[in-house]
Amino acid sequence: MVTDSEIQSAVAVLRRGGLVVFPTETVYGLGADASNPDAIRRLYAVKGRPTDHPVIVHLAGAAELDYWAREVPAAARLLAQRFWPGPLTLILKRQPHVTDLVTGGQDTIGLRVPGHPVALALLAAFRGGIAAPSANRFGRISATTAEAVRQELGSDVDLVLDGGPCAVGIESTILDLSGDTPAVLRPGGVPVAALEAALGRPLAVGRAGAPRASGTLAAHYAPRTPLMLMAGDLLLELAASLGRQGKRIAVLAREARQPLGAPYVWVAAPAGPDAYAHELYASLRQLDAAGCDVILVEQLPAAPEWLAVKDRLTRAAASTDER
Ligand code: TXA
Ligand code: MG
Repeated sequence: MVTDSEIQSAVAVLRRGGLVVFPTETVYGLGADASNPDAIRRLYAVKGRPTDHPVIVHLAGAAELDYWAREVPAAARLLAQRFWPGPLTLILKRQPHVTDLVTGGQDTIGLRVPGHPVALALLAAFRGGIAAPSANRFGRISATTAEAVRQELGSDVDLVLDGGPCAVGIESTILDLSGDTPAVLRPGGVPVAALEAALGRPLAVGRAGAPRASGTLAAHYAPRTPLMLMAGDLLLELAASLGRQGKRIAVLAREARQPLGAPYVWVAAPAGPDAYAHELYASLRQLDAAGCDVILVEQLPAAPEWLAVKDRLTRAAASTDER
């Protein structure tokens, strides 16, 4: 795992404006000193992300909320106490000193305390905020292992801290508390129902006119291979028909069984939503690497526990539609 001296090296890299990839419980993050505009510029360049898209600032603890946010409503303190460290990002009104590069020029900032010992050790030693998007090129599949990070970003980063596979496997839930009505901008690691229970009120998901969140663009989280999401019976029919046309088929199945003798690249996903999320990005990377003509993904149940993974797959498929 990660040693103390690696943490010290990572801190030194951050202090001189470099880029450090670090594990979180959700996905790996591509980190830079949130107070150093030059470091953030480099982060955007490596990520290939447009500069008007904000990045989340990672904190060592909820005590740092007021340094970054100028208004911290009671709901934010309650949720921070309840869910941090953990996969929840809060959007709050920013303090004036926060650089536009972090906020994408908006009046708000995204803040989160990650629930991973390596991330927390790094943040505690660095004693500052770490701006970090997911450690993948813009629009592509997030990385949940250090190996995936190396394949994705290679030598463009200064240091990769290897904390093993990420426990949650998909990104944090983003809750906007900067306006009059709280709204979920991105479903993720913390179930919306858990936030609703804590706040004692129902939450809107994906409110129109919400601040821009790049992970909420229709096309995102996408493999290079075209991806389609459909019911299991349809999937088997389409696979058979494409197979007859000589196409190579990759499948991410749930309940559908691989037809005997069919030469598909087949990954059977775990049954429950948490295990499914844990495997999702690794499975998509594996299927993408198989060099097939298409990835067919079996549709997920409509139940609310599936909201977050469904969101990611729908966006991955949307990128295919736009090609
Ligand atoms: O789990 C996660 O959230 C991971 C780990 C590394 O913490 N991070 C992550 O970052 O997913 P990223 O940049 O890939 O996605 C963060 C999303 C983006 O869609 C960004 O636009 C949105 O959060 N965001 C950040 N600050 C925001 C703000 N002030 N208002 C609205 N959206 C914001
Ligand atoms: Mg991302």
